[in-house]
Amino acid sequence: MSHEDVNPRSTLSVSILSGKGGVGKTNLALNLAYALYKASHKMLVMDFDVGLANVDVLLGVSPEKNLQDLLKPGVMPADVVAEVEPGGFDFLPAASGVPELLELDEDMRDSVFTKLNTVLGEYDYVLFDLGAGIGKTVLALASMTRMRVLVVTPEPTSLTDGYAVVKVLKNQHNIKDFQVVVNQASSAKEAQLTFDRLHGACKRFLDLDIGYLGAVHTDPNVPEAVRRQVPLIKYAPQCRASQDILSLAIKIARHRAESKSHLKAKAILKKITHG
Ligand SMILES: Nc1ncnc2c1ncn2[C@@H]1O[C@H](COP(=O)(O)OP(=O)(O)OP(=O)(O)O)[C@@H](O)[C@H]1O
Ligand SMILES: [Mg+2]
Repeated sequence: MSHEDVNPRSTLSVSILSGKGGVGKTNLALNLAYALYKASHKMLVMDFDVGLANVDVLLGVSPEKNLQDLLKPGVMPADVVAEVEPGGFDFLPAASGVPELLELDEDMRDSVFTKLNTVLGEYDYVLFDLGAGIGKTVLALASMTRMRVLVVTPEPTSLTDGYAVVKVLKNQHNIKDFQVVVNQASSAKEAQLTFDRLHGACKRFLDLDIGYLGAVHTDPNVPEAVRRQVPLIKYAPQCRASQDILSLAIKIARHRAESKSHLKAKAILKKITHG
């Protein structure tokens, strides 16, 4: 399956990944989706954290079907997608604690992806909430999305594990495009220093320039929203972390607009060269 396959029409596919677990991927994915949904974009969040699925827990919903059902013949994505908010915010639940899904073999993966391709074009954005680390499924998905958001925190272990993700994706999949979010930052300065450290290592050892999408401050409203099982931006739209995530959503929307015009330019070029 080629890189373009998961990017039908103007859908922007984004994988949210991290080296270390528990850095805030699921919260970020859900709230980016909620923010963009509120701005009238059609959103699909795919919970691909098949080890410990928790999108459904964070949303307080218990969907009937999940990713594992998609492996069965005849079951299509429309049968398993659940509605979070009406008219444009859907999600596809993972299968929690199902070890055989952690490392799907290539045939299974292709069959799941071929099915998924039939619905991706219905959304403006598809956000893949991936599991932490460098498992095969994580790497395969991360290398297929158009955009990759790497979440780190200022903790040194999160940084070294984040660097490992970049290194493996570059060396094994020739992926060179990463956008970093520093979560749980105490200040913009600390976040910038964290990014600079990661960027420095990528530049020095991998000859790679990674991008800085921005920071999300540590905010007590985040765990509170988790406890209440509501998206943070819905629960406390004015709080610091919500404002930070809104800024990130605007930047991601800009990426989509740019890649759309890029596609348009490509189509025009094709027309010209093919008469
Ligand atoms: N900006 C923040 N401020 C305060 N707490 C936060 C922030 N971001 C995340 N957290 C807390 O960290 C915990 C882990 O977040 P989350 O579940 O989104 O991480 P994750 O990367 O998806 O974890 P996993 O790797 O296990 O899937 C959450 O319970 C949340 O309360
Ligand atoms: Mg998670």
